[in-house]
Amino acid sequence: MSHAEADHDTRRSRQWLAGEARGTGVDRDRLLELGAAMAALTAAADERELVAVAPAPVGVDPGTPIAKPLPPELLRPLDTNAEMRWTALAGQGYVVPNDRFFVRNHTVTPRLDADTWRLRLFGTGLRGAPTRDAAVEFSLDELRRLPAEESTALLECAGNGRRYFAEQQDDPAPGVAWGLGGVGVARWRGVRLGTVLRLAGLRDDAVDVMPEGLDPDYVTGGVNLGRVRRPLPIAKALDDVLLAYEMNGEPLPADHGFPVRVVVPGWIGISSIKWVGPVEVSTTPLFSPWNTRFYRMFGAGHPAEGTVLGAQPVKSAFELAWDARVPAGAELLLRGRSWSGNGPIDRVEVDTGDGWRPADLVAADRGGPWQRWTARWRPSAPGRYTLRARATDTTGATQPDRAAPNTLAYLFDGVVHHPVTAL
Ligand code: MTE
Repeated sequence: MSHAEADHDTRRSRQWLAGEARGTGVDRDRLLELGAAMAALTAAADERELVAVAPAPVGVDPGTPIAKPLPPELLRPLDTNAEMRWTALAGQGYVVPNDRFFVRNHTVTPRLDADTWRLRLFGTGLRGAPTRDAAVEFSLDELRRLPAEESTALLECAGNGRRYFAEQQDDPAPGVAWGLGGVGVARWRGVRLGTVLRLAGLRDDAVDVMPEGLDPDYVTGGVNLGRVRRPLPIAKALDDVLLAYEMNGEPLPADHGFPVRVVVPGWIGISSIKWVGPVEVSTTPLFSPWNTRFYRMFGAGHPAEGTVLGAQPVKSAFELAWDARVPAGAELLLRGRSWSGNGPIDRVEVDTGDGWRPADLVAADRGGPWQRWTARWRPSAPGRYTLRARATDTTGATQPDRAAPNTLAYLFDGVVHHPVTAL
C-alpha cells in the first residue's frame, strides 16, 4: 500500500463522494452541509481572512494563544501563530532550538496536566471495538516505559511562504501571512504509534487512524468544526509515525504539544497532531474537515472538490534578515537552508545579481530533512541587491520563478527575492 498522501486522499475522497463517509457522530447530510459552508468560505476567501474563535469551556483555563515568550529577534507573531525569524538560525546547528521553533495554533495552547493526561484509543479497528467512553488508555509513564525511538524530522506548515503569492506575484491570498519561517527541524523522541496500536489490540482489517488534539474546538465562518484531527492510513501509522514526548532533548514544550504529540515525517504539518488525546482506529475510512476542506488546492486547474496537498514542495531560505544591511566591499559568507517533502536536496544555486552559481552544500547534512549551504559574495558597491536561492531535490523537482496560485494559497515554492542593502 502506498504511503503517499495524495494516493491516500484520492482513495478517501472517492469513498467520501461515494457516500461511504462515517465521520464521528456526523452523518452524510451534516458533512454535505459543512461542505457547503466550506465552499462558501472558499468563495469568500479573497475578501477576508479565516479567523479562529476559541470557545472557552466553562471552568477550564483556555490558556494564552502561545505560552512561550516571543522575543522579536526570534519569532514574529501572526494571529494565533508565530513564525521563526531566519536570522535566528544564524550560528545554530542542524536543528531549530525550541525557543525559536515556529508555532501553528488553530486556537490556543492548552495547559494539560501530565499526571491526569491519558492517550485514549478506541474504535472498530481495535479488538472488542472499545467505545470513546471506554477507550484503551495509556498514561505518560506507561508510554515512557515502552521502547523509545528518536527521529530528526522536519515540520512545515502547508501555508509557509504564503505572503509571497501577494508580494512577488500579485496573487493576493487569504489566511496566515507566513514568510518562510513556518518550518523547522527537531529531534523528536517517543514511542512508535505502531507499538501502541498493537498493544491496544489492533485488528488486521483496520484502515485508518485519526488522532485528535485536546485544544479547543476550531470555529470558523460560524461553523464549529470540532477538535483538530486528521486521518492517517494504517500503513503510514505503522511505518514511521511517532508519539513524541521530547523535542530536542527536553520534555515537549506546551506550544509544541505537551505532553504528547504525533510526528508524521514527510507529511504536511497538520498531520502532526499536537496535544493528542483520543485516537480513533477504524475498519472504515475516516474523514475530517482537515482532509476534506482545508489543506486542499482549490482554484484554476483543480476540480471543484479540490485536490489534496501531498508532500511539501522545494523551498530555500537565507539565514538573513529581510532587507539586511551588509558592508559594501567586504567578502561575506551567505548561509541558508533548502528542503523538500519529496526527499533530500541534490543541489542548490544562488544568484546575487550576476547569474546562478552553485552553492556549497554542508556534507554532513546529505540525505537529511533539510540541507544547509553557503555561498561567498562580495557586494562591490553600496546599493540595493536581490539575493535568490534555488534548490533541486533528488527527484529532480526544483523551484519555479512563479508558484502556482491556488485559492487557499498553499505550497508556495517560487524562488524568493530576498532584498539586501550594502552600505
Ligand atoms: N494539532 C492541534 N491539536 N492543533 C493545531 O492547531 N496545528 C497543526 C499541527 N498540529 C495543530 C496541530 C499545524 S497546521 C502544524 S503546521 C503543526 O501542528 C505545527 O506544529 P508546531 O506548532 O509544533 O510548530
